[in-house]
Amino acid sequence: MIDTVKTKVTKEKKENDLMLNTFKSDVKQGLEANPKTLSSKYFYNEVGDALFVEIMNLPEYYLTRSELDIFQNKTEDLINALQLNPESYFELIELGAGDGLKTKKLLNVLDAKNFKFDYFPIDISGNALNLLEKDLKEVLPSVSVKTKQGDYFKVLASLKNSNKPKVILFLGSNIGNMNDVVAAEFIYNLGANLKPGDKLLLGVDLIKSTDIVLPAYNDNKGITAKFNLNLLKRINEELGANFNIDNFKHEPEYNENDGIAKSFITSTINQTVEVKAIGTAYKFAKGEKIHTEISRKYNDALIKKIIANTDFTLETKILDSKGYFADYMLSRH
Ligand code: AVJ
Repeated sequence: MIDTVKTKVTKEKKENDLMLNTFKSDVKQGLEANPKTLSSKYFYNEVGDALFVEIMNLPEYYLTRSELDIFQNKTEDLINALQLNPESYFELIELGAGDGLKTKKLLNVLDAKNFKFDYFPIDISGNALNLLEKDLKEVLPSVSVKTKQGDYFKVLASLKNSNKPKVILFLGSNIGNMNDVVAAEFIYNLGANLKPGDKLLLGVDLIKSTDIVLPAYNDNKGITAKFNLNLLKRINEELGANFNIDNFKHEPEYNENDGIAKSFITSTINQTVEVKAIGTAYKFAKGEKIHTEISRKYNDALIKKIIANTDFTLETKILDSKGYFADYMLSRH
């Protein structure tokens, strides 16, 4: 084998081992906690990615359609809010680009208006980035795309040297998976990698009534249930556990006073599950819940509170036609 190829393979193996070790210790910690928890970041293996695509197309899951409405029908407002100047070059950086459906609407208009920019989609999944790059080459061949695979902050730190004005997109209410303290830290850290005048477009789901929010996390076809329970399947596959998912059920909750949706996996019987890689058996009582996700909803006051100790100023927000979802434009001061 050629030496450089060998080095690359070894590096990838090391990274995989590291990821598996982190997964193992996170699962151990979560199943030994009271109440039990598992992190939503582990939803996204190949099966989980595909299920999330199905979720985005569900009639109940209004989030993606609402933000698409903004990107499709309020593109001018977005460009004005971002204070973009067609004459001067900027870097458009997207954290967790996914399939780029919403961003393509913006790229299309920026391209048609001859804005000067490069598009940097950042994602932890190399596979997702390859698909996006291929798609963009076909549908928007004149847009310069520079994919960056890896951890958001590592990639941002590497982009920091460029000195060019930056616009960061963090869409889809992805920030809602963090509690408010972690979200504030995350935005603070983004600011540390930016310069005065740089922009952050933060897409968030807004607090609204239970009859709208709860079905988005408890769809009729049971896709969200599969998505949640896939976490147990993943533990079976990667950590040699013996979860019988027929003995667990998906149970979401939403409290419209605090605006937080939570997903749980509930044990439907008294049972013991062995996780070989950890070398431990875990007991589950009938009705016992594993907390797997928070999907926070926001309003102006919450956004202001979260950015209060960061280097960002809230400039404007753009709403979809139903007022379900908001893209907040924050400026680095
Ligand atoms: C991708 C984090 C925005 O919380 O709404 C969808 C993930 N979980 N259905 C969300 C999710 C259950 C989603 N985010």
